[in-house]
Amino acid sequence: MALRVLELFSGIGGWRFALGTRGEVLAAYDISPAANATYTLNHGTAPRARELATVPFAELTGVGADTWLMSPPCQPFCRMGAHRDLEDRRSRAFLRLVDLLREAPPRHLVLENVVGFPGSDAHALLTECLRGQGFRWTERQLCPSRFGLPNQRPRIFIVASRGSLRTPEPPDLDAGTVGNFLDAVEDPALYLDEDTLARHGPGLDLVRSEDHRTACFIGGYGRRLVGSGSFLRTPRGTRRFSAAEVARLLGLPSGFRFPEDVPAEARYKLLGNSLSIPVAAWALSHLDG
Ligand SMILES: C[S@@+](CC[C@H](N)C(=O)[O-])C[C@H]1O[C@@H](n2cnc3c(N)ncnc32)[C@H](O)[C@@H]1O
Repeated sequence: MALRVLELFSGIGGWRFALGTRGEVLAAYDISPAANATYTLNHGTAPRARELATVPFAELTGVGADTWLMSPPCQPFCRMGAHRDLEDRRSRAFLRLVDLLREAPPRHLVLENVVGFPGSDAHALLTECLRGQGFRWTERQLCPSRFGLPNQRPRIFIVASRGSLRTPEPPDLDAGTVGNFLDAVEDPALYLDEDTLARHGPGLDLVRSEDHRTACFIGGYGRRLVGSGSFLRTPRGTRRFSAAEVARLLGLPSGFRFPEDVPAEARYKLLGNSLSIPVAAWALSHLDG
């Protein structure tokens, strides 16, 4: 049976790409105008631009979904953040959704987050609530490097259901080389200048086109250098990956695009917030519909 999906914190619609023909998104919610414009361009329907901490429960249940797909903001649990967990104001929407889960649980819930999520109070609250509502769930740390992509992006996936769960074997595909994911014509503006290289060069994660890995590209890749993702060494110098290249490394479809007025920094931010599509699709393959 096709999944009837409520896509929460929808961003550019990574979950919707991963869902494919497995179901239908009945409604998506996100507060970011740039994310919503990108979602609309790619999926043909607009998310509801609402603060999820304040959307009335009746509106969410009125969607008629049986499946919640979500990637709540990860900053409260991030390695580089202040780890304020449920005290972080960005956890308010998550807390409210846990309240709704107690009142009107869907049949399935799939959540993706950073590896710091397990062990957090938010994780404890969610799993306690899932248990109380009769869900079974599986929790896995997955990385696209095993899914045919030369990219490291370890993330936690919780796949929960009040029905039964399949237990597929995770793939172990060859990632291929970075060169397969590069633009046919490179943008010279992506190259770092001599000053920047002199200051930050030693801290950069450098890869070449024949390598089989890139580091995780985070939302700050367009602004920051060290610890934000990989940089490409070419005979000409050292450059950033373009947003289109990062999109390919996330497994987004070749037709994926941004509205022209979304600037480069915002593109990297949206991609850094999104999902590795084949990994998310595999997580969904646990559900029996
Ligand atoms: C980790 S990203 C999820 C990205 C998404 N899975 C994708 O594929 O692009 C979190 C998203 O939640 C949105 N968001 C954060 N807090 C929100 C809130 N309180 N209400 C609605 N959306 C929110 C952000 O704008 C961001 O797009």
